[in-house]
Amino acid sequence: MLNAFKKIASTSVVKIDPLEIEIPIERGERLLSSALKQGVKWPHRCKVGSCGTCKAILLSGDIKAQLNFGYVLTPEEIDEGYILACQSTLKSDIHVLIKPRAKKGKEKI
Ligand code: FES
Repeated sequence: MLNAFKKIASTSVVKIDPLEIEIPIERGERLLSSALKQGVKWPHRCKVGSCGTCKAILLSGDIKAQLNFGYVLTPEEIDEGYILACQSTLKSDIHVLIKPRAKKGKEKI
């Protein structure tokens, strides 16, 4: 009887390009915070959805936005599939493209 109420652990996988890595993300956990905990060097600053530094292009899969990305991303970026990793939870396995941080003194990608 108790098993009927037991929460089933649910994990999705995010494939991150161009880093060519895959990591598990617990359902309900924010993409950025989970990736950082697992050692991924994901560009970020505020972690609260106001700077846009953590943006990534969602190539496949489905996420749930925890706030309206339109406050930070341009309509063009949203049309191109950009998401904010710090304000996204996963609804399925996903594939994203991030822009690694440029080294100081180098031209930004
Ligand atoms: S880290 Fe600033 S918007 Fe995500």
